[in-house]
Amino acid sequence: MTAIDICALGDIPEGGCLAVTIEETPLALVRTEGEVFAIFDRCSHADVALSEGDVTGCEIECWLHGSSFDLRTGEPLSLPATVPVPVYPVIVSGDGEAARVSVALTSAP
Ligand code: FES
Repeated sequence: MTAIDICALGDIPEGGCLAVTIEETPLALVRTEGEVFAIFDRCSHADVALSEGDVTGCEIECWLHGSSFDLRTGEPLSLPATVPVPVYPVIVSGDGEAARVSVALTSAP
């Protein structure tokens, strides 16, 4: 598994998202609860960006119809979405302003 260096930790707003595209894979990097998560940046219900939704705890809510997804597993927590969204392992290395975020693209959407 090769992790790809994406950005500085400080590039991701606390309690929010940074949308990036890595090797043609759209990702929402989410910083919340003292952790960073990487989730495929398309809702499984329709083709809209999850990164434009709201983050609450370890959940992200799709802005279009309101399904929430668990950032740890990608599982939908509320309707209308019923299909999980891929999530990817995140590695945070370094400290303070030097901290970097890497993601391993292990699963294909
Ligand atoms: S498009 Fe996301 S819940 Fe419908």
